[in-house]
Amino acid sequence: MTRSESYANHRARSGRLENIESIQTARNHKTMNWITTPEMSHSANPKSMKASRGGSLQGMAAIPGDKSISHRALLFGGLASGETRITGLLEGEDVLNSAKAAAALGASVHKQDEEWVVWGTGNGLLLEPEAPIDFGNSGTGCRLFMGLVGAYDFETTFIGDASLSKRPMARIVDPLKLMGTQLVSSAKGCRLPIVLHGPEIAAPITYEVPVPSAQVKSAVLLAGLNAPGKTTVIEKVKTRDHTEKMLAGFGAEIEVAETEDGARAITVAGQGELKGCNIQVPADPSSAAFPIVAALIVPGSEIRLENILMNPTRIGLITTLIEMGGDIEIANRRNSAGEDIADLVVRSSDLKGVTVPGERAASMIDEYPVLSIAAAFAEGITRMEDVGELRVKESDRLSAMAAGLAANVVKVAEGDDWLEVTGVPGGKGLGGGGAVATHLDHRIAMSFLVMGLASEKPVAVDDISPIATSFPEFIDLMRGLGADIA
Ligand code: S3P
Repeated sequence: MTRSESYANHRARSGRLENIESIQTARNHKTMNWITTPEMSHSANPKSMKASRGGSLQGMAAIPGDKSISHRALLFGGLASGETRITGLLEGEDVLNSAKAAAALGASVHKQDEEWVVWGTGNGLLLEPEAPIDFGNSGTGCRLFMGLVGAYDFETTFIGDASLSKRPMARIVDPLKLMGTQLVSSAKGCRLPIVLHGPEIAAPITYEVPVPSAQVKSAVLLAGLNAPGKTTVIEKVKTRDHTEKMLAGFGAEIEVAETEDGARAITVAGQGELKGCNIQVPADPSSAAFPIVAALIVPGSEIRLENILMNPTRIGLITTLIEMGGDIEIANRRNSAGEDIADLVVRSSDLKGVTVPGERAASMIDEYPVLSIAAAFAEGITRMEDVGELRVKESDRLSAMAAGLAANVVKVAEGDDWLEVTGVPGGKGLGGGGAVATHLDHRIAMSFLVMGLASEKPVAVDDISPIATSFPEFIDLMRGLGADIA
């Protein structure tokens, strides 16, 4: 059977309308109605909240599954042939949008008791989506799926919320063009809504990523899965390595080598078979970051967090907080399903300002907002270097943090790609600003709620609804530890 016959067969017998009630129902909505206007900087129903200083934080908290691994589990499971069973999947909005995207491309996705079960199409056999795919707030979902379909000879329309519609997509579209993908249309500056059409046969490429980005690396490798021959991505700075590790688990032929100048070269062989597998998602260190910083800055606190992912490409914040004098005990280190995990015991501490070197940025790129809150309570100055990428996250995080900190009486200085925060140990005089603008950014909202737990006066945020994209349990979990958030 030729590839196109096998594709036609697959399309004819596709079971994608069965067995995926929840995801399929969502797909049947008129997707075009979900487009939001790019000028919007709030969710449809913004909900303000305020955090206040109270007693210490105590107890154990169950941190939800890792967002990066959850996206990939659904995406790779949806592509591989046969069944993938996922435990511990993060059920945040971003990841659920990836589940819908996998279903829109022909996979069957449903939840059975505590497990998510995915039946994939088989590599090379994705189906053309019938409607635009809405990735909501999720850069990771959108960019990884762009790579995935970029090498398919069909058209896909990508849409997202107001935050995602402002984020740069040329970093994904540029390498895809080298493989033969056509950018059919985009908003100004290669922003969403974007329509891509892949080539009949994609060209495998060797591509050096221009910015340290696991999303770009992953997108090119995923496109390479449907190109004849070998696709190589070169990264000078090591970024999170979930794609390469997990693809190997699905049976992809993938190799990681060091180049002469010390860069990493990741090579994937295209058009091989991928097979479904079982995945256990560990707890997300990027979500754990919020209760960790809260426990460090609220006097008398002691909390315990279990099964936290300790992959070295993800724990730059823990290294930094320990350097600042944070009492973080890393207990019961173990390996689970190929990943290092551990339990953390965090006790309140007298923190000192440090300079965070640029080389560490990739391993804590999502954690700078909450690090700047820790810095606001540390003695002296904390300087964060080479963090220009923060300007193109869910919001411009450098200016969002600088504005919110300054409004709450913290001394802060901001450069193009750096931030400097001068702390006030004990938080005397801090807080009491108006509601901080969160710009549809979950991590800005959570960071300032953490600040309010230790500052002299309360701290308010204008909208908590984006928190549901990555950490829907956040408010309840923090209240369970004793936090006053109302
Ligand atoms: C992610 C990569 C990071 C990170 C994002 C998740 C991923 O983005 O900010 O939250 O899962 O690959 P970049 O790779 O663009 O820095």
